[in-house]
Amino acid sequence: MEQFTRRDYAGEGITGPVPSTPWAWVQQWVDDARRAGRERADVPEPDSLSVATVDPDGRPSVRTVLLRRLDPQGPGFFTNLHSRKGQALRAHPQAAATLTWPAIYRAIRFEGVAQELDREEVRAYFDSRPWGSRVGAWASEQSAPITDRGELEARVAELEQRWPDRGQADDVPLPDFWGGYLLHCDRVELWAGRRSRLHDRVVWTRDSPGPLDEDGAWEHRLLQP
Ligand SMILES: Cc1cc2nc3c(=O)[nH]c(=O)nc-3n(C[C@H](O)[C@H](O)[C@H](O)COP(=O)(O)O)c2cc1C
Repeated sequence: MEQFTRRDYAGEGITGPVPSTPWAWVQQWVDDARRAGRERADVPEPDSLSVATVDPDGRPSVRTVLLRRLDPQGPGFFTNLHSRKGQALRAHPQAAATLTWPAIYRAIRFEGVAQELDREEVRAYFDSRPWGSRVGAWASEQSAPITDRGELEARVAELEQRWPDRGQADDVPLPDFWGGYLLHCDRVELWAGRRSRLHDRVVWTRDSPGPLDEDGAWEHRLLQP
């Protein structure tokens, strides 16, 4: 028999009247996780967002990105638009995403339809990135095969010469193939771990994807663990 470490989840659960839209609690939980990320060692990357997509053959895949945008429109992230996830989203914009914070016994699940972020917003975010990451975005044909790491490093060296670091936001142009996605949600669930696997769950749903704070659009229910 394999040896598992069994942990009981000693979370406080979900208390208080459930708000009519998910936004306030989503925002609160992300703030709480980011604070935990600053104050304790066991929440090292509170913005880790697992994003699931489906390819043209109906095959699901999931990977982790960083939550780099969150407002009542929904969660968002930045990536290479030609990557495997980008190709999947072009075929099937339906996507799901989760933020999981085991140390604080909480998780959020989002489901909906991904939309490419507009170029203005992408540019503003790209320009805010460190120079090395901006060069890296050009150097990596994300998700394509590579012979060895040397190939990537040679490309980086060439691009570093082409666009030297002058400390300016426009040192490196924005690649056409680099962008971001916003997940317009029609289902949002908060999960709170409790003792003996008797967790708390609350789910909000709406008929079609839309803002997380739209009054009258969302219905909510509690779910069994
Ligand atoms: C903690 C963490 C954060 C990551 N953040 C991003 C990100 O913000 N954007 C991104 O494109 N890839 C990010 N990655 C890499 C992705 O997990 C993945 O390898 C990459 O996006 C290619 O995925 P795809 O081939 O399914 O498109 C991150 C990985 C980890 C583990």
